[in-house]
Amino acid sequence: MNTYFSTFIPGFSQIIQDSLPQILEDVTVTLNLDGLIVYQTSSNPEKVKDLRFFNNTYILLNKFEKPDHNPIERMIYLVLQSPNLEAQISEYTQNKTKGFRVVISKENQNIRVKNDILIRLEERIQKIRGLSVNKSKASLELWFLSRDEGHGFFGIRITKPTIEDKKVEAGELKPELSHLLCLLSEPDRSDIFLDPFCGHGAIPLERASFFPYKQILTGDMDPKTIDRFRLKTKKFTKKIVTGRWDATNLHSFDDESITKIVTDPPWGFYTGKHLNLPVFYTKMLTEFSRVLKKDGITVILVAQKQIFETALKSVPSLLLVSRSDILVSGKKAAAYKIKKSN
Ligand SMILES: C[S@@+](CC[C@H](N)C(=O)[O-])C[C@H]1O[C@@H](n2cnc3c(N)ncnc32)[C@H](O)[C@@H]1O
Repeated sequence: MNTYFSTFIPGFSQIIQDSLPQILEDVTVTLNLDGLIVYQTSSNPEKVKDLRFFNNTYILLNKFEKPDHNPIERMIYLVLQSPNLEAQISEYTQNKTKGFRVVISKENQNIRVKNDILIRLEERIQKIRGLSVNKSKASLELWFLSRDEGHGFFGIRITKPTIEDKKVEAGELKPELSHLLCLLSEPDRSDIFLDPFCGHGAIPLERASFFPYKQILTGDMDPKTIDRFRLKTKKFTKKIVTGRWDATNLHSFDDESITKIVTDPPWGFYTGKHLNLPVFYTKMLTEFSRVLKKDGITVILVAQKQIFETALKSVPSLLLVSRSDILVSGKKAAAYKIKKSN
């Protein structure tokens, strides 16, 4: 049984807490903060490492309750006092691991700390099986995380560095967000799934790669976007159907033919031409209501919440289930989970 802490997009605490026991064995959640969860599981660390909805996951070595006014220094000091440090690091480090670095994150910002106790800590770690400090290319990362509500954590990162692993194109959603949007829609193997504003295809590709489905339907208004997306779908053995359409008029779909719609419509900020969002959202939601089966679910990522919620009220067959307020690339947004009632 290992204890881990994982970071995730703030706003999704509930869906993560609900999903963990369905994926991992013997899960006990000991702390669920907005954006960070601490849990124990008997699952293999490789399985934990591969969880798609987390930004990063760490083996928990120490947890600090409300470290005082200088939390980083206090945490490093307490770790230095620990007689188990060498044993803990050796347990989770492979023999071939050589370069390591200590990373310090204060309220979600990585910071540099130059002081004697950090140097003393690095010197002590260097005595473990030939480990040496390598700030640019470390295969072992030891993280101190301090959060503004007063919790502090020290652990070994088991996920890969974000930049190597998760390169996305401009406007493309990150895989962890696409994964969470798919999860919110309660994926099922019988799903006829639609993303009518697919763009680079982050959502349908995540759905096709990591969840079961009967059929995936995707499309966009922009022909170049569709051509690029079609190339990415070739590797899938189960066909992903792609079309060009205006998502406010999905006449190629019958009434009540779709079980799930998960999508990221234009945000209305960057379009060259003016987009009348109240009209656009109302037409889109009316069309979603028409094509969704009864009890079908749609999850929609929206930045202009007030306009969207007004539009939603004008389509009585669609009922709001939940709203998760999040930040996407620093911009306020919300993931709406909506159910078709009749
Ligand atoms: C916010 S982007 C989607 C980004 C996508 N989730 C991704 O990760 O790449 C919105 C997409 O909707 C498309 N679009 C805009 N208006 C549309 C409409 N009326 N019907 C269908 N697609 C539309 C745009 O071409 C753009 O690709």
